[in-house]
Amino acid sequence: MKIIVVGTGYVGLVHAAVCSEYGHEVYAYDNDPKKIEAFASGQTEEIERYVNEPGLASIIREAQDRYLFFSSDLNSIIEKTDAVFLCLPTPPNLDGSTNLTYYDAAVQYMGKVTAGRKDQRRIVFVNKSTVPIGTARRLERIMQSHNVPNFGVASNPEFLAEGTAVSQARRPDRVVVGCDFQEDFRILRRVYSQFVNHVRIKYIETTPETAESIKYVANTMLLTYISFWNGVGAKIGEKIPNVKIDDLRLGVTADDRISTWGSFVSNGAGGSCFGKDIASLIYQLRQVNVSTKMLEASHEVNEYQKIYLVDRAITEVGFKFNNKTIAVLGLAFKKHTNDMRDASSIKVIESLLGKGVACINAYDPLANDAARAVFDPGKNNLFDKITYYDAAAEAIKGSDALFISSDCEEFRGLSRTIEEIVNPPYLVMDGRRMIPDYDALLKKKFSYLAVGTMAMLPNKAES
Ligand code: UGA
Repeated sequence: MKIIVVGTGYVGLVHAAVCSEYGHEVYAYDNDPKKIEAFASGQTEEIERYVNEPGLASIIREAQDRYLFFSSDLNSIIEKTDAVFLCLPTPPNLDGSTNLTYYDAAVQYMGKVTAGRKDQRRIVFVNKSTVPIGTARRLERIMQSHNVPNFGVASNPEFLAEGTAVSQARRPDRVVVGCDFQEDFRILRRVYSQFVNHVRIKYIETTPETAESIKYVANTMLLTYISFWNGVGAKIGEKIPNVKIDDLRLGVTADDRISTWGSFVSNGAGGSCFGKDIASLIYQLRQVNVSTKMLEASHEVNEYQKIYLVDRAITEVGFKFNNKTIAVLGLAFKKHTNDMRDASSIKVIESLLGKGVACINAYDPLANDAARAVFDPGKNNLFDKITYYDAAAEAIKGSDALFISSDCEEFRGLSRTIEEIVNPPYLVMDGRRMIPDYDALLKKKFSYLAVGTMAMLPNKAES
């Protein structure tokens, strides 16, 4: 089959690469020629500058110019296409609604180009990136307004998580396809032929609106589950003496009905999807007069969670941030990525700067460059106080306190490094419970404050 993927962000590029592995002829299109050039170069470094996803660069190198092509000229690739997957950015507006400006512009252009093609074969336009419920209908109207002949629309949401996207795309837990017509279901069945009737993969065919809803309900459910652990489980561990949060988690998740994923308490969930999707669903449900209290609570818990360890350092430890140097480790929204979108570290750093810290020593194994772009001193001169380091130990050197904001493996067991590099009084704020051997720190008179546990001050340490 001939497939065009419009938009080469993380969703589009992974989809294009993996579709080429299914044996289709895939054209990845983007209106940014620099990105197209970088991907077409086949160079890992060039590709990962835009999308850093394990295993992706090697698939691109393998398939390129045989099954996978890159183009920024839609007119030259449109003929004889069976399916067009729309993987476009849909950023949030201030009121939580979804900004469809990029989406609309790309779809309008696609309509114009497709209307002018010579062949008349059936073409399906498929919404792959997350778009509000009803957007497939909007897509249909736009194509009709351009008099595109013989087309269908579909919703086929993406459920990949960053960092494991390639392996998940090769073996998804489900494929959801929403169409109006059998002929469009048939085209999508051919795209995903190895997953139809698969014993372990659920291939779900439904209406476009249901497919769109599945994506929002799934993501807001996952965030609500994380918020439940952060807002209830972690609080029990922090407020009630002798409750061990890790044992609490083990005991609760021993029930097969309760997931282990999401039960790891943290300083909030970040990333490009959860925050944006819950805000969008709240907005969409308000439009149809549905109470959104539960979703609002889940969103609020998650947002406050990002900074509350900083608040706890003041109220429970009596730490004074003014003029201090704070090391912040883990800038990306989670391990194995350089993605800074909605990362908890952004709120942490803004909160620290608001409290008058003198310097921030920042470190992330992958995201230092991306963080430099986010904390641009041109936007806020306080960002001048951030210095980036190439190793955790370097960032810790000379600091008065440490904040661990992501779950990079290398932060686990940092206690020895801390002991060797800095002297107490020193506060470790652990947003990801990465220091299981905190006892050693307490014995050496360090203070330890972790999500899910009461503040541990040296004089309370067991000897
Ligand atoms: C999320 C969903 O997991 C995917 O199913 C979905 O397809 C994707 O959004 C999307 O809509 O594109 P992703 O944003 O890549 O995937 O990241 P996750 O692995 O879900 O992590 C999100 C955040 O939750 C991270 O900050 C992570 O550290 C945090 N988290 C995760 C916790 O705080 N606790 C946990 O137990 C698990």
